[in-house]
Amino acid sequence: MKNNCKLCWGISGILVILVATMGYLFIIRGSVIVSQDGRTAILMSENERNHVLGEMRGLLEAVQAITAAIVVDDMEAAAVSATSVGMVLAKNEDPAMMAKLPLEFKKNGFAAHTAFDSLAQNARDFQDREMVLEELSVILGACTACHAGYRVALEE
Ligand code: HEC
Repeated sequence: MKNNCKLCWGISGILVILVATMGYLFIIRGSVIVSQDGRTAILMSENERNHVLGEMRGLLEAVQAITAAIVVDDMEAAAVSATSVGMVLAKNEDPAMMAKLPLEFKKNGFAAHTAFDSLAQNARDFQDREMVLEELSVILGACTACHAGYRVALEE
């Protein structure tokens, strides 16, 4: 009986360590190496990289469309473009790819998507182009901060 319990605790201990290690690897650390240019390179398959870069080009297109909407003072158009790159984009991400992203990267990404949603909401509620421009400039700060720290590299 005594021995059995020792075994139970032993197995539980190993499981706890295993779960903690997996949590660290898949949730906090992600799949990364230090890149030659000093940034953190996230290792992805070619398909995953194409998917991420495609989304990125979508973000830039939305920024372009919002800027054009600000120029002509069309807050509804700004809201529509911002919503298209809001949290809707982040909802259907592949869990296997998400596991490769470091926690900090995921937080930055979600923050950017959420910021687009709140830009859309404020554009509709306040119809104030200066406010939208200010929010866009804050979002652009998030784009440049993430690009300064991360890049994508192909898995071997
Ligand atoms: C959470 C991090 C993160 C955020 C936030 C982010 N990006 Fe990126 N973006 C990346 C990474 C990583 C790459 C790949 C860079 C590399 O490999 O050199 C990239 C690449 C790009 C590219 C190049 C796409 C291509 O086809 O090569 C564009 C354009 C881009 N991002 C636009 C944006 C814009 C606009 C925003 C803000 C609205 C933004 N990104 C926000 C991480 C981010």
